[in-house]
Amino acid sequence: MDCQPNSPEARDKKYHMHAYTNARRHQEVGPLIIEKGDGIYVEDISGKRYIEAMAGLWSVGVGFSEKRLVDAATRQMSKLPYYHSFTHKGHSPLIDLAEKLVSMAPVPMSKAFFTNSGSEANDTAMKMIWFRSNALGQPQRKKIISRKRAYHGVTIASASLTGLPNNHLSFDLPIANVLHTSSPHHWREALPGETEQEFSTRLADDLEKLILAEGPETIAAMFGEPVMGAGGVVVPPAGYWEKIQAVLKKYDILLVADEVICGFGRTGNMFGSETYAMRPDIMVMSKQISSSYLPISALMINDKVFEPIADESNRIGTFGHGFTAGGHPVAAAVALENLKIIEERNLVANAREVGAHMQKRLAKLVSHDLVGEVRGVALIGAMELVADKATKGPWGSVGALGGLVNGILQQNGIISRNMGDALAFCPPLIINDKQVDEIFDAVEKSLDEAAKQVKA
Ligand SMILES: Cc1ncc(COP(=O)(O)O)c(C=O)c1O
Repeated sequence: MDCQPNSPEARDKKYHMHAYTNARRHQEVGPLIIEKGDGIYVEDISGKRYIEAMAGLWSVGVGFSEKRLVDAATRQMSKLPYYHSFTHKGHSPLIDLAEKLVSMAPVPMSKAFFTNSGSEANDTAMKMIWFRSNALGQPQRKKIISRKRAYHGVTIASASLTGLPNNHLSFDLPIANVLHTSSPHHWREALPGETEQEFSTRLADDLEKLILAEGPETIAAMFGEPVMGAGGVVVPPAGYWEKIQAVLKKYDILLVADEVICGFGRTGNMFGSETYAMRPDIMVMSKQISSSYLPISALMINDKVFEPIADESNRIGTFGHGFTAGGHPVAAAVALENLKIIEERNLVANAREVGAHMQKRLAKLVSHDLVGEVRGVALIGAMELVADKATKGPWGSVGALGGLVNGILQQNGIISRNMGDALAFCPPLIINDKQVDEIFDAVEKSLDEAAKQVKA
């Protein structure tokens, strides 16, 4: 790597602190600097091309060179580059997008509210839920249930909802009132011989026990990703959401579907909630809403949530929450055009059809010595690497093998992401079968190369 004093790599090390990075190690390894992108490909500063098999951060649904989004941004930027939604103000892109989202919702929704990131949207959901409990005269109903291995973001409340150690360690998180119930990962967590249905029943029992131990009258809501993403792509076991929702219904607990990854086609339906028959009261969306060309996120809330909040805002005089750039007109215009493209080009059907091919290629990997499990649905999947298939044990420390294979794969022109020893695949929704083959041919080759190093 070129590390001359004035190279971009050297300046990056000198001036830039990276997200989700070991800051000391970065001084040794330096950055991979991506310069441009087209379709499912990106190119680094040295001209090397990669397939972006993670669509960036699970987000660039329409690919990296969609001119229509550039034009939509330019048009809106020229007309009204900024406005907001505080104190009864509004603008057309926001109204159009709110109407569009509510019309797309798989269960009846009442209103959309706009934020800038998945984390902000989940924080907002939590604040809305607390505000609602107070509105209902139930100030004790403030506890929120999330799950181990969940990912809901990194701000103080959403990092608390996240159920991963690296988001809590040394940050003094989680905050009070956030509880984590069992992770739904069958391969790791099921008892010997336990079927997926039996496992789901046990998890629903765990949830009910937690609710009863804490006091049902103190629990306001449960958050869940239809398919867990950053926790290692955990697809819910058979019967899971049905059984979990039956418990929530019994104790009148709200369900928040975090659709930040699953939303807009990823699981082969417009929303993950459709794929898993979830009936959320709040839906949280980001990433593929604008293919991440610009930051924007949104919540949809049903009347059960909106009506008490409206009453409470009337009592107090306002709903004292909102972000300067929430629902930014340029981002909203881009999101609208992006949703149009997803619909016009049948990218949800493409996710289903090409996704079926991706799942076949993924399934083949399980015969490799280093692969313990593969999992996924439509265009999201993962392989979990092990050194020993019988014990499911890691190669040295957890994440070492994941890091090794991820590095080799990157050298072989594929960008994936290892979460511990799970390598994820979440390519742009525009991908075709041939390109999926390119990814998985490289994965097979990289696994063989890694196996040699592991043996050595
Ligand atoms: C399911 C889910 N929720 C929330 C977030 C947080 O989004 P952001 O990084 O935009 O804050 C993410 C990010 O990966 C996510 O995957």
